[in-house]
Formats: sequence, structure tokens, C-alpha cells
Amino acid sequence: MRLSSFFTTSSVSSAFLVASFVSSASAQDRTTETAEAAITNGTAECVAYWYPPVSEAAYNFPTNWQPASILSNDTAANAKYNSISSQIPNIAPKGTQPASLEGNFSGLSYSSSDPDCWWTYDQCTTPKVAGLKPDMAGVSEPDTLGYGFDDGPNCSHNAFYDYLQDNNQKATMFYIGSNVMNWPLEAQRALTDGHEICVHTWSHRYMTSLTNEQAFAELYYSMQMIKLVVGVTPTCWRPPFGDVDDRIRWIANALGLKTIIWQYDSNDWKAGIDGITDQDVDDNYMNLIARAQNGTFSTSGTIMLTHELNNFTMSEAVKFYDQLKSAFKYLVPMGVANNQTQPYVETNYSLPTFEAYVSGTTVVTGGTPQSNSSGSTSGSTSGSTSSLGSSGNSTTKPSSGAVSQVVFSKAGALAATMAFLGGVTRVLA
Ligand SMILES: *[C@@H]1O[C@H](CO)[C@@H](O)[C@H](O)[C@H]1NC(C)=O
Ligand SMILES: *[C@@H]1O[C@H](CO)[C@@H](O)[C@H](O)[C@H]1NC(C)=O
Ligand SMILES: *[C@@H]1O[C@H](CO)[C@@H](O)[C@H](O)[C@H]1NC(C)=O
Ligand SMILES: *[C@@H]1O[C@H](CO)[C@@H](O)[C@H](O)[C@H]1NC(C)=O
Ligand SMILES: *[C@@H]1O[C@H](CO)[C@@H](O)[C@H](O)[C@H]1NC(C)=O
Ligand SMILES: *[C@@H]1O[C@H](CO)[C@@H](O)[C@H](O)[C@H]1NC(C)=O
Ligand SMILES: *[C@@H]1O[C@H](CO)[C@@H](O)[C@H](O)[C@H]1NC(C)=O
Ligand SMILES: *[C@@H]1O[C@H](CO)[C@@H](O)[C@H](O)[C@H]1NC(C)=O
Ligand SMILES: *[C@@H]1O[C@H](CO)[C@@H](O)[C@H](O)[C@H]1NC(C)=O
Ligand SMILES: *[C@@H]1O[C@H](CO)[C@@H](O)[C@H](O)[C@H]1NC(C)=O
Ligand SMILES: [Zn+2]
Repeated sequence: MRLSSFFTTSSVSSAFLVASFVSSASAQDRTTETAEAAITNGTAECVAYWYPPVSEAAYNFPTNWQPASILSNDTAANAKYNSISSQIPNIAPKGTQPASLEGNFSGLSYSSSDPDCWWTYDQCTTPKVAGLKPDMAGVSEPDTLGYGFDDGPNCSHNAFYDYLQDNNQKATMFYIGSNVMNWPLEAQRALTDGHEICVHTWSHRYMTSLTNEQAFAELYYSMQMIKLVVGVTPTCWRPPFGDVDDRIRWIANALGLKTIIWQYDSNDWKAGIDGITDQDVDDNYMNLIARAQNGTFSTSGTIMLTHELNNFTMSEAVKFYDQLKSAFKYLVPMGVANNQTQPYVETNYSLPTFEAYVSGTTVVTGGTPQSNSSGSTSGSTSGSTSSLGSSGNSTTKPSSGAVSQVVFSKAGALAATMAFLGGVTRVLA
């Protein structure tokens, strides 16, 4: 079942779920980050709950899991967009919507010289438009793995986050705005636990197929939702499917977001589709581990794509953690690999430097380093998390439409990914 629930082809409005706080979750406190993090039954974790700060602001956000666009009455978003729109590189959206939203770029003519540095075409990471920095695809520290997970927060992630916590391991979490909206207390846990949060768009579509305004909105509202829920504004993002070109990079950069890709793909998200088996995913992990052991990363480290998508992908991460940890010298969040001690727009939240992290200080919060010598590195003193957490009301309101939760099946997206491969006409130029 792990594959059928992420993207569905069903329409969004029909998939509206009403949170059933009173009837289903009465045995458990679903009102604070701490209480939510204590739930050990993954099924119970995934019962929708009421979280007033989100439901009360929902009208200020695009429809959950639908391609985002700027709300016409959103003055701040419109002002920001208008201030940048005339400078966006003049590159047309790729393909024809709606098929292109799912990666079906059939019929598109694209020059084999790759004028737009389109990652999907040839894994280009060095932009051709002036002023854009290369994507982060690996890490410069030798024998180091930039450790991160896409597609969260997943409602059933407590077992996984507990595991990371037990190992004093921090990671970069690339969160989907719509998932943050549906699972706000799970999103807060990332900051509380000392993980780094980056953006993974609002609705997880192929970004190069979107209009300028849609691409802007996918990133902008994800940043706003993370700010609302977690209290911080990310400065990094990862394009779903790696689908980025210079137009999209430019828009992300204008929003202060650094683009992060990968060099190896575990294909964990694909297990069960396109003929990819669980064994293939194991093999991909083992191949990376073999390379780490044979010196492939002895001059600079790397990044592998892995997911917080479902029980399988998180179980794979747990299964291979010890082996990765011994094959690589260091597993660190992306920001730590870059010595980026200020990961968010807000200046009062810090990450350790690489040196500090590898010598044991894995969490720095509010400017006060927290060494693990005390035995506690949970970062639970984060003011932004606790203040937002406490604003969540312990209400027994039997709400309708408290948390809109739309679940998609992946089938459409994946079929389309296949179509892409043969779809683009290479124009020799
Ligand atoms: C886990 O939670 C679900 C939903 O609340 C419940 O049906 C199930 O019995 C629980 N399982 C265990 C082992 O407690
Ligand atoms: C903005 O428009 C949405 C509908 O698109 C509406 O629900 C919301 O109340 C409006 N917000 C404000 C602040 O007027
Ligand atoms: C891809 O999109 C085109 C229209 O742009 C459509 O004709 C074709 O059937 C689609 N292919 C798949 C596999 O969905
Ligand atoms: C390291 O291992 C990988 C995976 O087994 C292999 O493809 C690569 O050629 C090896 N490199 C060296 C330098 O041995
Ligand atoms: C989260 O993980 C659970 C358990 O594997 C899965 O059933 C669910 O579909 C996932 N949710 C999302 C939004 O991907
Ligand atoms: C996967 O699901 C099983 C059964 O619910 C659970 O015991 C285990 O902790 C989960 N693993 C992860 C990594 O979420
Ligand atoms: C991080 O800082 C360390 C120590 O100062 C330095 O050796 C390393 O090159 C820096 N890494 C990056 C990516 O800046
Ligand atoms: C922190 O923990 C690591 C192992 O997890 C250990 O190697 C290191 O020495 C500790 N640092 C401090 C300052 O206690
Ligand atoms: C950071 O500042 C914001 C206000 O800008 C505040 O809400 C938050 O609690 C502060 N966080 C920390 C960790 O001090
Ligand atoms: C929480 O509930 C109290 C009443 O029980 C109410 O006064 C307060 O405004 C509520 N706060 C939020 C954030 O909903
Ligand atoms: Zn993704």
C-alpha cells in the first residue's frame, strides 16, 4: 500500500477529510509537539487532528496538494512577485499542462546544448544564467554524506525520528508545504529535534512545467506555511524529481532559497513501480556504501536522495544507518556540511559548524551551543517551536474541515516520468 497513497488522480475536493479529533483520538493528546511526538502507534499518528493556527489561516494559503498560485488578495505575495517578475529569465514553461505537471514533457523540442541547464534533461547543476550559484549536489568535506530526506513530514514518522534522536543524528528535512499544513506538529518536531528544514514545494509537481507565478507560489507559500507552523523561514529547497532549470533556480534564488540536488538516488520512493524492487533499493544503498569504503569520496563527499515518504523508505534508512555511519566518516545535515550556521531567515536560530558538529555539538539553538556532554542534544529548548506549539489549542471542537488532508497516489506521476524519457525531442544545436 505504500505506493498508492501519495498522489491520486482523484480530484482534491472529493478527497477532503474531516478531522475526527473527538471520536478517534480521544485517548491521545494531539495538541502539542511533545505529545504528538510521544505517540508510538503509526496508525494512530496518521489520524487527522485539529490544529487551530493552521485551520484558522487556511484561507490565506493555496488549496492543499493543488498546484499553487498567488491568492489575488494576498498583498505581500503580490508585491514580492511584482518586484521580481520582470527580471525572471525569459525561459518558457516546459511541456503542456496538465500532463507536464506530472513530468510528461512529450512533444517538447529542446536543444541538446541544454540552454536552460535543465537537470531533468542532463543533470546540469551549473547554471548558465549569470548570477546564479551552482546547485549543491555533493558536499566538499571528504568522506562525508550530506544526510537528508524528502517529502515529509510524514504522519507516521515518530519511529524514524526516535531512531535518529537515539543516535544523536541530525538531518535535512525537505518538507512539502501541503504536508506541513496537514501535519503541523510533526513538522515542529524537526526543529525541536535539531534537524534542518528546507522547502520541497507546495504540491510536489514538476517545477519547470509551471508558470512563473505558479513556481513562485509553490515556494512562497511553502515558506509561509513553515514559518506559520514551525516559526522559521527556510533558505534552501530541493526540486521534486530534481526538475529545475535556470528560470526556476532564479525564482528560488529571488526568494532566498539555495537549490540542493543529489548525486546518487536510492530510488526508495519508486519501490514497487516501474519494475523497481525492494532489493534494488537495498542494492542502491549497498552500492553507495561500497563506494564510501573504496575511497570514491576521499576527496569530497556526496549526497544520496532518500525519503521520509512512508514506512518502507524510513525503514530502509534505519536498516542502512549503521553501515552508512561506518562507511562514511560523517553524516551531517546539508547546512552543517556548508558551515551555514544561520539556516533560517530568523537570525536567532543557529546550526553548528561542520567542525563543531563532528566534534559532538550537534545542536545550536538561539545562539547558545548545546553540547551533547549533558547527554541531551534534543534541542527541545527551541523557543520558536515551543511558542508555536503552545499556541495550538487543546480544543475538543468537533471541527469540520479542520485540517484538509488530501492524499494522492503516485501512479500518475510515475507513468508520466516514464513518458518523459522518450518524450523530449532533442534538437541538435
Ligand atoms: C494503533 O492505532 C489504531 C488507530 O487508532 C488502532 O486501531 C490500533 O488498534 C492501534 N494498534 C495498537 C497495537 O495499539
Ligand atoms: C482572500 O481570498 C480568499 C478567497 O480566495 C478568502 O477566503 C479570504 O478571506 C481573503 N482574505 C482576506 C484577508 O480578505
Ligand atoms: C503525455 O501528454 C500528451 C499530451 O501532452 C498525451 O497525448 C499523452 O497521452 C501523455 N502520455 C502519457 C503516458 O500520459
Ligand atoms: C568503488 O566501488 C564502486 C561500486 O562498487 C565501483 O563502481 C567503483 O568502480 C569503485 N571504485 C574504485 C576506485 O574502486
Ligand atoms: C505516510 O506514511 C504512511 C505509512 O507508510 C503512509 O501510509 C502514508 O501514505 C504516508 N503519507 C503521505 C502523505 O505520504
Ligand atoms: C514501520 O511499521 C512498523 C509496523 O507498524 C513499525 O513497527 C516500525 O516502527 C515502522 N518503522 C519505521 C521506520 O517507521
Ligand atoms: C567549514 O569550516 C571548516 C573549518 O573552518 C573548513 O575547513 C571547511 O572548508 C569549511 N567548509 C565549507 C564548505 O565552507
Ligand atoms: C558527543 O557524542 C559523540 C558520540 O555521539 C562523542 O564522540 C563526543 O565526544 C561527544 N561530545 C561531547 C562534547 O561530549
Ligand atoms: C526567535 O525570534 C522569534 C521572533 O522573531 C521568536 O518568536 C522566537 O521564539 C525566537 N526563537 C528563539 C529560539 O529564540
Ligand atoms: C484557545 O482556547 C481559548 C479558550 O479555551 C481561547 O480563548 C483562545 O483564543 C484559543 N487560542 C487559540 C490559538 O485558538
Ligand atoms: Zn519529493
